[in-house]
Amino acid sequence: MSALPILQLKAVGKSYGQTRVLKGIDLDVMRGEIVSLIGPSGSGKTTALRCMNFLEAYDEGEVWIKGQLLGYRSAGRSERDRDSDSDASIAEVRRPVAMVFQQFNLWPHMTVLANVAAPLVLSKKIGKAEAQRKALAALQRVGLEHKADVYPARLSGGQQQRVGIARALAIEPEVMLLDEPTSALDPELVEEVLSVIRSLAQDGMTMVMVTHEMSFAAKISDKVVFMEAGQIVEAGPPAQLFGNTRTPRLQQFLKPWFDRSLSVSPSTEAVPAQTSTETDRSHA
Ligand SMILES: Nc1ncnc2c1ncn2[C@@H]1O[C@H](COP(=O)(O)OP(=O)(O)O)[C@@H](O)[C@H]1O
Ligand SMILES: [Mg+2]
Repeated sequence: MSALPILQLKAVGKSYGQTRVLKGIDLDVMRGEIVSLIGPSGSGKTTALRCMNFLEAYDEGEVWIKGQLLGYRSAGRSERDRDSDSDASIAEVRRPVAMVFQQFNLWPHMTVLANVAAPLVLSKKIGKAEAQRKALAALQRVGLEHKADVYPARLSGGQQQRVGIARALAIEPEVMLLDEPTSALDPELVEEVLSVIRSLAQDGMTMVMVTHEMSFAAKISDKVVFMEAGQIVEAGPPAQLFGNTRTPRLQQFLKPWFDRSLSVSPSTEAVPAQTSTETDRSHA
């Protein structure tokens, strides 16, 4: 068993013009871990996630994927000190990482199968037949192989997001990044998507997920990270963040959720009764 994180952020920072939206994020993700990012809107969750695969170029600190520096040739202190890497080697370093987007980002003019197969053909340089075979297998994994030939507009939002997940799965990733995968969905469509994510977790997929589904995060995560104003305010196992909250700011952030869930079902639904630690992983 390797002690090297599969994904590691060291003091990662990002500015848009004069605004520093990430202020030194440290995060270790071990193989097989489920990490949930929570926090108020605008706190930098999406930016952090996008920096993890260089969809957004971070400009301070380091992102390491399987022991390789992402985006730069050397780990200089600031953007001025370092050389950007070539697109080809950025693509190579981030190859094990796949992203699932809040708004699905499917191509409307392409069938479901073509949506899932296209990135395979583009990024992995494999033949069309092989790409379609892998795409079908990924669709099967999310229970949508029977929708292979339809266009995305014919699917419900929940089905479209399952296609988004299949597209990520098709590249056979080792880490999946999910940005609020259910927040664009009508409430009755959320569960089918959470259920797919849960089954990936049970299969041991490593995931970093931005989410507002607190009960789900509490049950599924090995680690929960609370961000505010571009910083990590509190991080730890879900039993700590949801059951033994240390910072007033997180208490305040969670209060509406506690108020809602306590009025429904006190202990069974909302908070894990037992600690789910790094060693004792139980993906419910
Ligand atoms: N492309 C951009 N240009 C300028 N500011 C941005 C851009 N993307 C995000 N921001 C700003 O960065 C901050 C963090 O945004 P974001 O990462 O989307 O937060 P979250 O996902 O937690 O809601 C916000 O203040 C947002 O307005
Ligand atoms: Mg966001």
